[in-house]
Amino acid sequence: MVSGALPPSGALLPLGGSTASGDLMASGGLMTSGDPTQEVPVSRATTLIGRADETATLLTAAQRADGRLAVALVSGDPGEGKTALTEHVRELLAAQGWRAAWGRCPESGGAPAGWPWTQMLRTLAASSPPDEETARVLAPLLADSYVPVGDQAAAKLMLHQAVVGYLAAATAETPWLLVLDDVHRADEETLALLCHLATDRDATGRVLLVVTYRHNEVGDLLADALARLARVGPDRIELTGLAPEAVADLVRGAVSAPIDEDTVRAIVDRTAGNPFYVLETARVLAAEGAHAAVSEVPVGVRDVIRRHLTGLPTAAQEVLKQACVLGRDIDVDVLLAQGGTDEDTVLDAVESALLTGLLVEPDAGQLRFTHALVRDTLYEDLSQLRRARMHARTAEAIEAIRPRDVSALAHHYLASASRATAAKATHYARLAALDAEIHFAYREAAQLWRGAIVAFERSGATDDAARKELEAGVERSLAQSGDHSQG
Ligand SMILES: Nc1ncnc2c1ncn2[C@@H]1O[C@H](COP(=O)(O)OP(=O)(O)OP(=O)(O)O)[C@@H](O)[C@H]1O
Ligand SMILES: [Mg+2]
Repeated sequence: MVSGALPPSGALLPLGGSTASGDLMASGGLMTSGDPTQEVPVSRATTLIGRADETATLLTAAQRADGRLAVALVSGDPGEGKTALTEHVRELLAAQGWRAAWGRCPESGGAPAGWPWTQMLRTLAASSPPDEETARVLAPLLADSYVPVGDQAAAKLMLHQAVVGYLAAATAETPWLLVLDDVHRADEETLALLCHLATDRDATGRVLLVVTYRHNEVGDLLADALARLARVGPDRIELTGLAPEAVADLVRGAVSAPIDEDTVRAIVDRTAGNPFYVLETARVLAAEGAHAAVSEVPVGVRDVIRRHLTGLPTAAQEVLKQACVLGRDIDVDVLLAQGGTDEDTVLDAVESALLTGLLVEPDAGQLRFTHALVRDTLYEDLSQLRRARMHARTAEAIEAIRPRDVSALAHHYLASASRATAAKATHYARLAALDAEIHFAYREAAQLWRGAIVAFERSGATDDAARKELEAGVERSLAQSGDHSQG
């Protein structure tokens, strides 16, 4: 495994190392809904199944990446295996001496602008620290805190050029795989830097930049970025379902009991070979028998996830509902600080979710939903009211633990949408908007200023000067982003 460049997705773990949860499942300790004492022999797949052509395309792109950044776009439905394929290629390249840096666009709001590049640059900087002058220019992405000086437009251009220059220096000796995962959720600055890097003609060392996205969630910003990237002739991989034989291998790898042909065929039909859907269906199969998997389980991946969730004790389900508000990566300190549930209940919930493969522990003290679809299903099933209350509790916990995390505080206070928290929502949205502006994320800034105005009105405040500042913020951000259509 490449040091300092751990893959971000717990969903990857089955393909690589083992974890507490992986080990437990491999040893057959899965609890299920019907009979909590029943042991079900489910293990996670340990290798990438199929995808030989796609793997070869990425390896060839890596070989071609010499002296100029090579770009590969990997797209497909949720759970189709974009991250898993990229992780597999990461391991193959690591065996050839490549290093890897991974930047993942967060599922829910609350991360600073350009966050995936911050993640990647931090990994690169750990092995090739930038010189003092470069570090100064890279500060908006690399430093924990940064105070802007001078003209913003010039600073942005300098930052992007500095990233190109730094990348060339940092990759001169060692080939690097850079992964920008889930750009369907990328912010404006993340995409701007991606386009700058990909279209810059300056030489780099050996760098392959893999960009993954859900093809059915491409918004306007990403569509523009993809059009710009098209000019550099990227390699394109559009993942579709696995072939029936690969589905059979995946199911048989995950369920140790023998499975007949009809059941496999039914799973192929139902899931169209989507690996995540296949694996979730395999769980039901293991827990409830083939009959349930192919006849009683409602159609649709989210319904299969719901079935999986109802296998947990009620208290554990409640804790997961609270956790899903935090996003896919769960800050355990925040979860524990939320109050309302005692520590033992939270820990019991976490353990049962780990055992049943709904959560993974990417590292000690870290928790993550196995897949974005698990987190999204939980979140979407919450009523608006409950969601808002949970965001308020989350905001209070974050305020106590990480009071300077204004992006997260703005996100949760705005989502809590109540009069009681409206003044705080205004306060943090204003701070987060200013922060987004200095990180050149003007659309995000405009959105935050607007959120601040809504919260300001909800709070019943009447301070005219304060309102004018918020309105001026919207105007300024829109002018900077060059997008007046939103105004
Ligand atoms: N070819 C494969 N062989 C074995 N397991 C796979 C394969 N492809 C995907 N998986 C498994 O299926 C699950 C979903 O895959 P993955 O997370 O890579 O999907 P994704 O396309 O990145 O989804 P998202 O759009 O949510 O990011 C993971 O548990 C992964 O390990
Ligand atoms: Mg993924």
